[in-house]
Amino acid sequence: MQFHMPARLYFGSGEIQNIDKVITEYIKAKKSILVTDKGVVASGLVERVKLLVPGVKIYDQIEANPKSDTINAIARELREIKPDLIIGLGGGSPLDAGKALALLATNPGNIEAYEGREKYVQDPLAFLAVPTTCGTGSEVTWVSVITDVDRKFKMSIKGPKLYPAASIVDPDLIRTLPGPVIASTGLDALTHAVEAYLSKPATLITDVNAEKAVGLILGSIESAWEDIENNREQRENLMYGSTLAGFAFGNSDVTAVHCISESIGALYDVAHGIANSIFLPHVLEYNRPACEEKMAVLARKTGIRNSDDSGAAREFIENIRQLSARLDIPVFRDLNIGPDQFELIADMSFRNNSNPSNPRSLDREDYMNILENAYKSGE
Ligand SMILES: [Fe+2]
Repeated sequence: MQFHMPARLYFGSGEIQNIDKVITEYIKAKKSILVTDKGVVASGLVERVKLLVPGVKIYDQIEANPKSDTINAIARELREIKPDLIIGLGGGSPLDAGKALALLATNPGNIEAYEGREKYVQDPLAFLAVPTTCGTGSEVTWVSVITDVDRKFKMSIKGPKLYPAASIVDPDLIRTLPGPVIASTGLDALTHAVEAYLSKPATLITDVNAEKAVGLILGSIESAWEDIENNREQRENLMYGSTLAGFAFGNSDVTAVHCISESIGALYDVAHGIANSIFLPHVLEYNRPACEEKMAVLARKTGIRNSDDSGAAREFIENIRQLSARLDIPVFRDLNIGPDQFELIADMSFRNNSNPSNPRSLDREDYMNILENAYKSGE
């Protein structure tokens, strides 16, 4: 058993104020570039960071489900500029883009060549992760997920050198996040924790983190969604939950929910958290016969009192389903993906690297059934 998390973590409300100190005193970087997206720029946060990190060069063109073309184009510039630190500021997309750029800054060619584990030859540049949503977990994992635009496929690029050098997790950065983003990214974090807990590679250490994460997220997501601005404690709990969920899945794995969400993210550009929220209850229902006992343990930690394992597991799934509805998460049909696409999605999900980690084995037919059930449930 191994547990790996070498990134130095700075956690706390207001911690962003120390970013320059982290850069100059801990990472000892002299030339930083920052990757982000237009939404973070519009929030005013990039301007704030520019004042805190004098001279930082900004790349703000990272899109949702970050694309290989965008990454490769920025990388060509970085090889000219020769920075010594990449800062990722934003949700999962800018953070994953930052890791990919840290790799390409020191290694030749395009990002597609580095799909898989430890494909880099030179050590990537130092990377500083600053999450601004409550879901990604990317700030404490070694993986970067980039969409290969030619194959319409989400590649996992990973390895121990892709851990951030440091992460600043400041719950104040989610203070003005819109409700729908809190819902989708918070439920992404919940999915990370639940999948990590039930995945085949789960260990005692990932379980402890996952259990705590599930409790923190379920206990805070609704009040944060209703009024995050005036709810400091719930902001902090959500961010703790998201980070602990990252510890858990980063050292075990995700399962079939992410196999589906990554597929429909790559094919139809569906927001990652929305896709996870839609499929989590359906995959749990499929997995229940293979891990009912463990699901029941998790269920009881969330306050379910049913002493029958099957009943407790069913209640847990139902609670997640109802939570998504209360948070106004769309149903599968709202995504406008018709049944004629299911074979393609099922095939891609089956080929996802995390498919073998699912507690109950699935073939393409099983994915088809899950997709059809999810589609029917939105009738
Ligand atoms: Fe995720």
